[in-house]
Amino acid sequence: MSIFICVITHGCHAGNFWHLTDMHWDPTYKLDDNPGLVCESSGNRPAGNAGEFGDYACDSPWHLINSSIYAMKDILPDPDFIVWTGDDTPHVPNEKLSEEAVLSIIGNLTQIIKQVFPDTKVYSALGNHDYHPKSQLPPVPNDIYYKVADMWQSWMDPASRNTFIRGGYYTEKLLNRAGYRMLVLNTNLYYDQNKVTLGMEDPAEQFGWADQVLTEAATNKEKVYIIGHVPPGFFEKKRSKLWFDPVFNDKFIQLIQKHHQVILGQFFGHHHTDSFRMFYSSDGSPIGTMFLSPSVTPWKTTLPGVVDGANNPGIRVFEYDTQTLLVKDVVTYYLNLTRANAARGQWEKEYRLTESFRVPDASPASMHHILDRVANDNCYLQKYYEFNSVSYDLTECNKDCRVDHVCAAREVDFYRYEHCLEKEVAICIYGGLLPVLTVALSLLLANQY
Ligand SMILES: *[C@@H]1O[C@H](CO)[C@@H](O)[C@H](O)[C@H]1NC(C)=O
Ligand SMILES: *[C@@H]1O[C@H](CO)[C@@H](O)[C@H](O)[C@H]1NC(C)=O
Ligand SMILES: *[C@@H]1O[C@H](CO)[C@@H](O)[C@H](O)[C@H]1NC(C)=O
Ligand SMILES: [Zn+2]
Ligand SMILES: [Zn+2]
Repeated sequence: MSIFICVITHGCHAGNFWHLTDMHWDPTYKLDDNPGLVCESSGNRPAGNAGEFGDYACDSPWHLINSSIYAMKDILPDPDFIVWTGDDTPHVPNEKLSEEAVLSIIGNLTQIIKQVFPDTKVYSALGNHDYHPKSQLPPVPNDIYYKVADMWQSWMDPASRNTFIRGGYYTEKLLNRAGYRMLVLNTNLYYDQNKVTLGMEDPAEQFGWADQVLTEAATNKEKVYIIGHVPPGFFEKKRSKLWFDPVFNDKFIQLIQKHHQVILGQFFGHHHTDSFRMFYSSDGSPIGTMFLSPSVTPWKTTLPGVVDGANNPGIRVFEYDTQTLLVKDVVTYYLNLTRANAARGQWEKEYRLTESFRVPDASPASMHHILDRVANDNCYLQKYYEFNSVSYDLTECNKDCRVDHVCAAREVDFYRYEHCLEKEVAICIYGGLLPVLTVALSLLLANQY
């Protein structure tokens, strides 16, 4: 009987976990003020559609945070574990926050997750907004690492505390089983906004440590997931926008390429968008995927050059094989913020990866296949593009947009990305002319004989 059930539910090793990221709680969000003063995180932008669940110009009100965590409980109450990749505080100038304010916000979010999921293991990474001043996470012990380690104590093995205090990173068994490992990185140390670590060779010795952990993982035949906040590579909504310092970007790619055999998945945040990054071997075969999950905050980015960078709030379930750690599927849930504010809208399924992109699973080979379709078929491109903002921006993804998204997903390496831009822009310009040129050229060549 149980074998029968296993077969119809896609195998006996079906597991799942939540990925929650970028909640950015804004405690100043208030509805009773005039529209200009709804929240500090809007800067001076009007919060035109402010409602109970928030506004696209603002970070999350508590009501949205609460709603997202309870929606998780409703949709999948007993996940194998939760991945939480940081950014808890609002987008406001440093002067509006303090070390105490940052710690208290991290504390409130930790508390609600513990309250709603008291028996669930949580793997938690720091975001660049989980420090004061923002993005300046140090490569040495400090107050915030100590106090956050205390808050997360019940989620961590005692041994994890040592490295967390040293540099905000740790590793432990995945699912508490031998042979399975989680690596929680503090990639905020590589963020180019981080003035404290710039120019250092290996901040907090994290690269050296990760190399050693992954080397031992190979020896012990372990399978590994990696989580973190700031991803390597480029922002798909702004051409040539790299987050890491270029030297750290190279080092990160080298680490993944060296150890790809034991790394079965990478799960990051920071973009607030829904996207992914491919890793390839030197012969061009897909060896890994980094999944970038959408944020809970709908906050419209103020990054210059991004036109309408808001999103609907999103949360996401990964389905995976508990024996092989192969990622089988990705199911994204979202709240249509406009509708929620107008009519007490509900969290609903946005899409299931394998259904929407017609692939058997979310393996690197399948994700490579998806990227090919997005690059070459306007229907898939448009679908991917709408999911990218969690169905907020439903405008057409034009030629420039196609190039930006395709090259960001395909190439995390600086030079390969630039090369991809050149190649893909050329396809846009000459693509329509190519058949004509080919015929003309063959006629020309034929005449020479
Ligand atoms: C949080 O959401 C739950 C479930 O919808 C609800 O029962 C509870 O009252 C909410 N709490 C707050 C403080 O909004
Ligand atoms: C945040 O945490 C503090 C301290 O535990 C508590 O007094 C306060 O009510 C919490 N706020 C929310 C919105 O849960
Ligand atoms: C979200 O809700 C608004 C208002 O009801 C609607 O106009 C819009 O089409 C909805 N978006 C999606 C993706 O369903
Ligand atoms: Zn963020
Ligand atoms: Zn961030």
